[in-house]
Amino acid sequence: MPTCTCTDVEPIAVAEDPVGTRPGSAELKPIDTSPVVGETPIAGLRSWLTPTPLFYVRNHYTVPEIDSSEWSLSIEGAVSNPIELTYSELLRLPKTTLPAMLECAGNNRSDLGPGIPGNPFEDGAVSNAIWAGVQLKPFLQQAGISSDAVEVLFEGEDSGEPAPGRDVVPYQRSLPLQVALHPDTLLVYEMSGEALTPDHGFPVRLIVPRWYGMASVKWLKRIRVLENPFVGFFQTERYVIEDEAGIDQQIRRLVIKSLVNWPEHRTSLPSGGSAAISGMAWSGDGPVRRVDVSIDGGENWQEAHLDESSNGYSWQQWHLEWTPSEPGHYTIVARAMDNAGNLQPLETRWNKLGYCINGSKPVCVTVE
Ligand code: MTE
Repeated sequence: MPTCTCTDVEPIAVAEDPVGTRPGSAELKPIDTSPVVGETPIAGLRSWLTPTPLFYVRNHYTVPEIDSSEWSLSIEGAVSNPIELTYSELLRLPKTTLPAMLECAGNNRSDLGPGIPGNPFEDGAVSNAIWAGVQLKPFLQQAGISSDAVEVLFEGEDSGEPAPGRDVVPYQRSLPLQVALHPDTLLVYEMSGEALTPDHGFPVRLIVPRWYGMASVKWLKRIRVLENPFVGFFQTERYVIEDEAGIDQQIRRLVIKSLVNWPEHRTSLPSGGSAAISGMAWSGDGPVRRVDVSIDGGENWQEAHLDESSNGYSWQQWHLEWTPSEPGHYTIVARAMDNAGNLQPLETRWNKLGYCINGSKPVCVTVE
């Protein structure tokens, strides 16, 4: 586990929010401006539903300006009956609603230390929304998928040089056929009750629950059924786990993880007062079964209370009542386990591009 030397910590604020009344923050934490990238501030991670203005944004290119009345989405490639959908057609179909979180594969990259290329995300490249749209499956079936099909490729309206000096390409990602056909893989036009905003993919984006955010292609323009696995920058050069031995695997489902969202790192608490340590946990392999919390850096653990249960696609909130009686320095860590038996590691596996960072992260507090 990364160590945290609490005795070196200068407390920077007094953490005195009672559960439920903790203030939010109205703005994303900027990470980049061109293209726009921002993460959810820690206060925004304390509610189950992330307010849309605080939902993290991860763009690779400039946000395309799209007129929904002129927009259309084609389904082509290895199909017998290519189709073209318009925005008004999609809106007329029965609406499916699904709460689901997204986490960027580079979330917590800054915890791996300096020297890792990519956006230096802290805790906030993760958010939860209620999406609304239509299932993708019936459209793929209507298009008549070839019996040799293996993947489905999704292309966004945005394009550019994916890295300096490289050929201009659109944002493209593929999914295995069975994931594209899953009933919860959606073409989405609404986010938490409102039309998608331009940053989050207006007019229509894909939502792939349980997968890292890179799979949920925004500003959808074209869907192509493929008879061979897709090779492309965002599929086989980025969003891969690469170590000294080379590329090990493409990134797919969310790995098990938890986060302490209160108290905040490097804050002070009054002794004798009652506090509740709280946070969230998630996994792409099924609902979270339990979360254990330690206040002594991992020596002793107590089981946290799981709050209202999640559908397995959104994060699971949890808390642990705590009455710090002794002044001193405390190192809080949380560790989650999912229904499939995956246990969050105490240490993250280092990888060259800083993806899938899920080691238990220490939060140091001073009780005065
Ligand atoms: N889709 C397109 N067309 N272009 C992009 O740059 N970024 C991906 C994904 N879909 C991206 C995209 C990545 S890496 C993530 S993490 C999520 O969108 C972020 O979605 P959000 O900005 O709505 O949070």
